This record gives sequence, C-alpha cells and structure tokens, in this order.
Amino acid sequence: MNYNIITPPVIEAITTIVGADAVIVQHDDLEKYSHDETEDLVYYPEVVAKPQTPEEVAALLKLCSKHRIPVTPRGAGTGLSGGALPVKGGLLIAMERFDKVLEIDEQNLQATVEPGVITEEFMNQVAAKGLFYPVDPASKGSCFIGGNVSHGSGGPRVVKYGTIREYVLNLQVVLASGEIIWTGANTLKYASGYNLTQLMIGSEGTLGIVTKIVVKLIPLPTVDALMLASFPSNEIACAAVSAIFRAGIVPSALEFMERRGVEWVMEYDDIAFDLKDGVEAFLLIEVDGNNQDVIFADCEKINAVLENYNCSDVLFADSSAQKEELWRLRRTMAVSIKSNSVYKEEDTVVPRAALPQLIKGIKEVGSKYGFESVCYGHAGDGNLHVNIVKAKMSDSDWTNKLKFGIREIFELTVSLGGTLSGEHGIGLVQKEFMPIKYSDVHFALWKGIKKVFDPNGILNPGKIF
Ligand code: LAC
Ligand code: ZN
Repeated sequence: MNYNIITPPVIEAITTIVGADAVIVQHDDLEKYSHDETEDLVYYPEVVAKPQTPEEVAALLKLCSKHRIPVTPRGAGTGLSGGALPVKGGLLIAMERFDKVLEIDEQNLQATVEPGVITEEFMNQVAAKGLFYPVDPASKGSCFIGGNVSHGSGGPRVVKYGTIREYVLNLQVVLASGEIIWTGANTLKYASGYNLTQLMIGSEGTLGIVTKIVVKLIPLPTVDALMLASFPSNEIACAAVSAIFRAGIVPSALEFMERRGVEWVMEYDDIAFDLKDGVEAFLLIEVDGNNQDVIFADCEKINAVLENYNCSDVLFADSSAQKEELWRLRRTMAVSIKSNSVYKEEDTVVPRAALPQLIKGIKEVGSKYGFESVCYGHAGDGNLHVNIVKAKMSDSDWTNKLKFGIREIFELTVSLGGTLSGEHGIGLVQKEFMPIKYSDVHFALWKGIKKVFDPNGILNPGKIF
C-alpha cells in the first residue's frame, strides 16, 4: 500500500479541524508518541492531533482517506504489542482529550464513557456508587479504557468476571470514511445480525476509531479474601490451578508468579516480603462475594486442594494494607522485569489444565536457546506472560536466534490448544507468528473485513496481519 506524507496544506487542514494547540509537529514533542511499553521500539509519527469530539475525529479521517495518509490511533501508550506505534509515519490520533465518564446509569447498571478515561479512575467512580466494572489490567492505573477495548483486554479478575468483551454493550465508532456509527444497542442481549461491537473489540484500531463506550456494570462484591500460596516448583503450582476449579471454586483472581519475578519486584520496589528457600513459585488467590462465611468456606476448600499439591505455606492477607501490598507485588512485575533487563514479552494462553505442560516446555525452549524466562500471569485463565530476558545471551543470538525460540514457544502454545495472545494483542511484534495458528483462509477473511471497513488501508497499517 502506498501512502502520502503529510504536506503543509494538510497540516493546515488538521489545524483547522482540531485547533492549533491540539496539533504537534515538532520532533522533540513527538517523542512521547513514538513508543509504547513494548521493548525498545521507536517510530515517530509525522504529526500528532488531539481531537476532542467524534466530529473532529471524523473530519480527520475524511481528510486522511482523501490524501491516503496513514492514521494510528493511540490511547495511553501502555500497550505491549506495539499496536500504537505509527510504523508508517503519518498522523497519530491521540485520544487523551476524550477523558470523560459521560453517564453512570444506576437504573440499568450501565455507563457511557469516553475512550481516554483511565481504567482505574472509571472503576473508582462506579465503585463510589456501589457498582463494579471488573476489567482490571495490571496497568489499570495508567491505561485507557479505549485501549482496553482495542485489545480485548483482561486482567486478574477476568477469571471470574470475564474480559472486556463481556462488558462492552455498544460502541460509537468513527469509520475510515468519516461516518459515525453505533455498533449495536445498549442491551444485555443481542441477536440482531453480525455483531459489529464484538468485531470492533480487539481490532486494534484497524477498523475504526472508538469515541464512546457503553459498558455493563455489576453490583460491587462486599467481601473478599486474598492468599498467597508457595510451591516447590512451577509445574506443581500450575497443576494446582485447574484443581481449584475442579473443587468447585471460581476465584475472583488466580495469579501465578515465578520466584525470579518476585525477586525482581523486590529489587525494583521496597516491598517487604519473606522469600523462603525452596519456594520456586506462587499462586495469588482471591475469592470474593457478599457473605463472609461463604468466603471462609471457599478458602478452606482451596486450602484442602493446595495441600495435595505440595504447597508449603499459605499467607492470608489479614488487612487491606497487606492485600494492597500483595497486589502491588503482582502488578509491578512487568515494569520490574523491564527495568532490570533487556527483555521481550510474550502473552501465551492455553486451556487452563495445559499450563503445567506449557511452563515446562517454555523452560526447555529457554535451555535450548540460552535465554532466561520469567513467567507470571493469569493462571486461572491459562494466560501466561512469558518475559524473556537477555541474561547471558549474546547480542547476535538475541538478534538472530531468539526469534526461533519464540516461534517454538508459540508452536508449543498452539499444540496445547492455545493461541498467541490472551490479552496484549498482536499489534506489530506478534504478527509474524500468526501463521503458526491461522491459515490462509483466516487471513483472507480478515483482509476482506479490513477492506470493507477501510478500503484505502489508512487505519493503523502494519498491524495484526
Ligand atoms: C500483567 C500485564 C503485563 O498482567 O498484562 O502484569
Ligand atoms: Zn496480564
């Protein structure tokens, strides 16, 4: 696909649409928009525009369609797959001024929110009304809900409550043509033809730009319990995961952490934690509900399961401060690993009971290629984040050989019934591995869909496939 560069008259037209203070063209000021949280990749846009209304987004897309200028939508830039990187230059549309919670509808338990709202701020606003929006990525304090829609995001509580796919009811979307549509209806059920809402979720800004999001809310659970269980090996910890569900419990979070990950968090952060010899892996397990007795009974059942899996210690968080501390340990793992080493992050997902085989295989691939891996993630969902750290790998092996190791990890993931990404998306960095899982038939269907929505291929080019 051939694109045009942004000429001075086009910059003028962009400025007329959004106003001079919402346009960035200076190289230094563009720096912030040249990267996200993915490794060390850097791609500069030619121009950044910060629209504030759907009509402004529509006018920008009409302009870019007419001049065949690539457009990359961007949320908070916390993505881990390079989805927000403007790989073809062009216009970057920063959604940061779409920052309002427009309505919390307490009659219907729904909310309408703009895409540039920070996820945790939204969660807090609904919680103040006794309501719950449970989609809580580890980056919830900095990511935008619009980015979560774009990636079909998850987070720890998804294991009980579902991903963002289960909460989005309707989306206002600006199409590449500049038309503004609502994808569905603000209803809990939807059997009215092809579901454009679900199609838009996870499309990573390649089919349209989301400007309003209607989500379902649920009542806020009133009690919870959190425990940290220690295990002598990764595989045993992973084997305990599916056993907990088989015992009849659906925890509100069930997170796996490797010892090495915990060590790195402790180096990065001032978390006080007694890391005992012989402990190689942890499960962070939360149960929630509305009845303390039921919660205690669930914890006892979980304990009984853990005993069968060589669990050496269970730490019960007995205050909200201790709960917060344990969650901080888990949530800062990604950033701790990143700050400690050159790394690459993969987001594997398999059916839950295949987790022990997955982690065993990942370690074997690491031994074969000479890299260290630090794994953690949403074990209850079978979703394991594999952080590959450079350790002793030579620069040349890191550049030339590592990709074959990553390919083997994805081949293993697929052979276990899984897929490439559970929640971080494909974006730029995972796309070369898509053929491991998907055939020419899939690619033809995707490309056909893309063509209908974006005939000139201007929207987030170079992503997914
Ligand atoms: C996490 C992010 C990396 O779970 O998805 O920490
Ligand atoms: Zn995660």
